[in-house]
Amino acid sequence: MFPRARAFVFWLMVLALVVPSGALRAESGAGPAPLPEPPVTVPAAGMGTLHDALQLARADQADHPAAIAGFQRLAWEFGTPLYIYDRATIIGQARLVKEAFGARFPRLKLFYAAKANTSLAVMSLLRQQGLGMETISGGEIIAALRLGVPGPDILFTSSSKSPWEIELALREGVLLNLDSLDELAQVEVTAARLGTTARVSFRVNPGVDPHTIHQINTGISESKFGLHLAGGAALAAYRRALRLRHVQVVGLHCHIGSQITDPEGYVLAAGKVLEFARELKEQLGLQLAFIDLGGGIGIPYHDGETVMTPADLAAALQPIWQKGIARLGYEPTLWLEPGRFFVAPAGFLLTRVNSVKTTPVKTFINVDAGFNTLVRPAMYQAYHRVRVIGPKNRVVKADLAGNVCETGDILAADRMLPRPQPGDLAVILDAGAYGFAMASEYNSRPLPAEVLVDGDEVEVIRGRGRPDDLFRHQRIPGSW
Ligand SMILES: Cc1ncc(COP(=O)(O)O)c(C=O)c1O
Repeated sequence: MFPRARAFVFWLMVLALVVPSGALRAESGAGPAPLPEPPVTVPAAGMGTLHDALQLARADQADHPAAIAGFQRLAWEFGTPLYIYDRATIIGQARLVKEAFGARFPRLKLFYAAKANTSLAVMSLLRQQGLGMETISGGEIIAALRLGVPGPDILFTSSSKSPWEIELALREGVLLNLDSLDELAQVEVTAARLGTTARVSFRVNPGVDPHTIHQINTGISESKFGLHLAGGAALAAYRRALRLRHVQVVGLHCHIGSQITDPEGYVLAAGKVLEFARELKEQLGLQLAFIDLGGGIGIPYHDGETVMTPADLAAALQPIWQKGIARLGYEPTLWLEPGRFFVAPAGFLLTRVNSVKTTPVKTFINVDAGFNTLVRPAMYQAYHRVRVIGPKNRVVKADLAGNVCETGDILAADRMLPRPQPGDLAVILDAGAYGFAMASEYNSRPLPAEVLVDGDEVEVIRGRGRPDDLFRHQRIPGSW
């Protein structure tokens, strides 16, 4: 677009956005003021679907007319910042895991780690793929129940379960994955009070380092998670559980970390837990219904990067599994609970450029998202690809800077990007996992909207937060 036309478009956009939050039509529900005509070119029929636009951005073709038209349409209809999920990608990722493991592990049960993206529409899609739900809180259990997932298909793993969460899980027949002896005692007492039997597994800490980001490296011995295999804590927990009247021990669980890109850690952990299962059989006479090797399957976040695929992982695990079950003398069901792998590549965070500024040190592209919208870069120094939507001219080295009032709010550092104009769009890739799920209202910015794209159809799956939401539970003492 010519600079003048672009400026005109921008000011029209500004005008549209100063209309109170009802300006965002589709998710607003009741009666927003009528909007002026779209300030951007509405995509011509046959130019490509919204799904195509998303895939073009992935393929670094955000200058393609179909990509430009698709993202402009999404921004116009739903506003920014906007989380966009591609239905076909979620289903495709689920199939990859099902096929890779299904081919090698006839006794297999897959779960979705709902923490990665707890939007009901996303959870529901994965449920339709036949997955159980791995949950981490009472809220996630309730989300799964709302979708009609029966208790036995829900696994509740947390290293710190509150009494009400334990009671909820027991009332609903949810399987409790325990992390301490205190928790075991609380489960026994609560189950006795409710007149029920708790089905439990223990999360063990195998002391394995999968070499991932420190904050999500959970299987190392210094992490807060699990009962350690080393030193006998895990064995002691099983021994004690077997003596309790209201607890039935059914499984063994470990989760060594997230964004794992190499099978080595899994193979080490699998070897250790299979060996431990043999100890449980020999020393306690316990036969397990399942062994859960957790989630953690990583994805490539960089262009041109190749990482372990589910097929690579299944192939690497099969020999150690076969050897382990031969020694065990029976075959437990293999459980897996990935989160990120299913949803990360399906997610796109669309954001609008507010301003571009060159300082004596560097150029900042200031956008309307920040670490309140996507915390991974600030929290984990995580890398996300960024595409500026539009022609690839005037490439500059720049930081994509968020709108949070903190120096550390940089969504992408030192990237070679086409220098955008205020009002232009940029999209952040692989934002479907630990994106919206970790978003906050910090700096008093309402939460973004989420939409689901299916071909050329698009639906709001979570309406945009409104300024009123910021105040909904607040009281000024004495004023009411
Ligand atoms: C117990 C447990 N299972 C599964 C997952 C999912 O991990 P990912 O999203 O890396 O697959 C996590 C993530 O933290 C977890 O803590």
